[in-house]
Amino acid sequence: MSIHFDVLTIFPNSFDKVFQQGVVGRAIEKGLIKLNVWNLRDFSEGTYKKVDDEPFGGGAGMVLKIEPIFKAIEKISSTNSKGKLWKVLMTPQGRTLNQKIARNLIKKERFLLICGRYEGVDERVREFCVDDEISVGDYVLSGGEIPSMIFIDVLSRLVSGVLSNKNSLEDESFSDGLLDYPHYTRPAEYNGMKVPDVLLSGNHDEIQMWRKNESLVRTKIRRKDLFDENKLSDKDIETK
Ligand SMILES: C[S@@+](CC[C@H](N)C(=O)[O-])C[C@H]1O[C@@H](n2cnc3c(N)ncnc32)[C@H](O)[C@@H]1O
Repeated sequence: MSIHFDVLTIFPNSFDKVFQQGVVGRAIEKGLIKLNVWNLRDFSEGTYKKVDDEPFGGGAGMVLKIEPIFKAIEKISSTNSKGKLWKVLMTPQGRTLNQKIARNLIKKERFLLICGRYEGVDERVREFCVDDEISVGDYVLSGGEIPSMIFIDVLSRLVSGVLSNKNSLEDESFSDGLLDYPHYTRPAEYNGMKVPDVLLSGNHDEIQMWRKNESLVRTKIRRKDLFDENKLSDKDIETK
């Protein structure tokens, strides 16, 4: 399985460095992930390649115009045969991305991520041109590029073969509805700060039990919403 991302942005270069290295960079090299970044200005006519304009009704800021986005969607839809293009508008008003949404979305296999800028995107894009609207959290960023990078990173990690060790995905926070357990590495003691004895014991059953328990305890303390969602109680912690 491979997955294909097209991105539409006025800052195409911003993706270069981020995805030239690390997990996603290697997955692109291996052909597990395909990434095409399109410059919205290439779909705009006129000498100035204008992609934004003042808002109807007045008010501060500029709005990304519908025409270049519409033309880009037409072009990108026709350039790749693999599956239907799932068109996603990055917006703080969309559904908030989480691991569960990512796991469901991965089935789509081919995505177009539309990055807004300024005051946002002409509302008709949202109404008539996209299949989905994704937010990366309840805060406002300057553009959809960072949200798109987050989206690509989160989904890419779920593609089989992208992470070298299958277990590293299974153990991660949210994969089983819980937060991950704490991790330690050498040295076993540093400036009086010690690693828990159990991790040095060599007893794999005890280590597993300790990790599960830590996972439960920290989920209860830090994310009571997840703890309750999984119908867990203090009894689960004591018995593990
Ligand atoms: C400054 S924001 C526009 C915010 C818009 N006026 C609003 O209040 O809903 C510019 C662009 O950044 C992107 N953006 C900002 N925050 C985001 C978030 N939390 N999640 C996803 N995209 C976001 C969107 O593409 C948006 O069109």
